[in-house]
Amino acid sequence: MADMKYTPLGNTGVDVSVLALGAMTFGSKDAWKLGGLGQDTVDKMVSRAVDAGINLFDTADVYDEGESEKTLGKALQPYRDKVLIATKVRGRIGPGVNEIGLSKHHIRQAVRQSLERLGTRWVDLYQFHSWDARVPLDESIEAMQDLVEEGLVNYPGVSNFTAWQMATVQARAEERGFSRYETAQMNYSLLNRDVEHEILPFLNYSKMSLLVWSPLHGGVLSGKYSKDSKPPGTRAGNRGLFFPFFDEKTGFDIVERVKQVGKEQDATPAQIALSWLLSKGHIVLVGAKTMEQFEENLGALDVNLSNDQIGKLDELTRHRVQYPNWMIERQSSGRTFPVSEPAWNRKN
Ligand SMILES: NC(=O)c1ccc[n+]([C@@H]2O[C@H](COP(=O)([O-])OP(=O)(O)OC[C@H]3O[C@@H](n4cnc5c(N)ncnc54)[C@H](OP(=O)(O)O)[C@@H]3O)[C@@H](O)[C@H]2O)c1
Repeated sequence: MADMKYTPLGNTGVDVSVLALGAMTFGSKDAWKLGGLGQDTVDKMVSRAVDAGINLFDTADVYDEGESEKTLGKALQPYRDKVLIATKVRGRIGPGVNEIGLSKHHIRQAVRQSLERLGTRWVDLYQFHSWDARVPLDESIEAMQDLVEEGLVNYPGVSNFTAWQMATVQARAEERGFSRYETAQMNYSLLNRDVEHEILPFLNYSKMSLLVWSPLHGGVLSGKYSKDSKPPGTRAGNRGLFFPFFDEKTGFDIVERVKQVGKEQDATPAQIALSWLLSKGHIVLVGAKTMEQFEENLGALDVNLSNDQIGKLDELTRHRVQYPNWMIERQSSGRTFPVSEPAWNRKN
């Protein structure tokens, strides 16, 4: 297998692997019918990940009602000083009226519990799981800053924020002399390129990293589904197939094209879909329910898509350029970089 590549985490001095391991399938309660992986398999997957050079692991307090953090933390004990752990706060973690959201009260409660489950004294990347309109933003960022100053969190990040929400967080944090927010964890794949409109230009401008979630669109880009076949035990079999961004026919046409590129490259559709994301320079959170899937997904590192193949996949899946982006592009020809290009990929 090709060597792992590393990239800066936001504007920090730390480098992380371009493939990271997502732990949403970890935990034997299997509360969301996503994986149900027990400690033995988690230990094997984490050990293989470290072996392959992965040094960033992502979980959330809500994944499998805390079991994901527990199993991940346990599996990472032998490697704790070599790896970065990312987790999230915002979702409901108990029945109490305040056991949810981004209040100072809840953030402090949630981080204590996450640290205990993970069996660690600090979280490397602590992410707001999504915006909380109920709570004044200053309250949330003050709470995050306290955690940084107490040594419980190294870097703050966000997830599922709009561009204006990210910009407001960054501006307010700077005004108050607080730590920057270094990452945004967002959905991105050949089946959903919405982040290209506003999110990627903002991330590039503010030197934040994109952590890509659901890079295979929940397994659809592995090519194992068809219109009439969603095998039981798979994610779509358990929870249904969803194509919120294209109609089902267009979605499956895209998957067919991905399969064709796979044949040209002697690679699987999942590897092509992951490789396309890697070609854009982002950090991709790989999810897997079996060791075989994980091994296959690691194989994306061996795929070198040609410019022609990338161009064709781009063309096939591109969303309409939204206003005012087309006006900005028209007015500044030759003076701007492609809006979706990460800063470190720029040619000049
Ligand atoms: N911030 C957020 O809101 C958010 C949301 C979602 C995810 N995430 C993060 O992103 C990570 C990855 O997300 P994801 O699990 O949705 O990623 P994904 O790659 O889109 O889907 C992973 C699922 O697809 C199937 N699969 C994976 N590799 C396969 C292969 N090679 N062949 C066939 N099927 C394959 C498996 O499900 P089956 O075998 O069951 O079909 C697997 O559990 C998560 O672990 C989590 O850390 C974050």
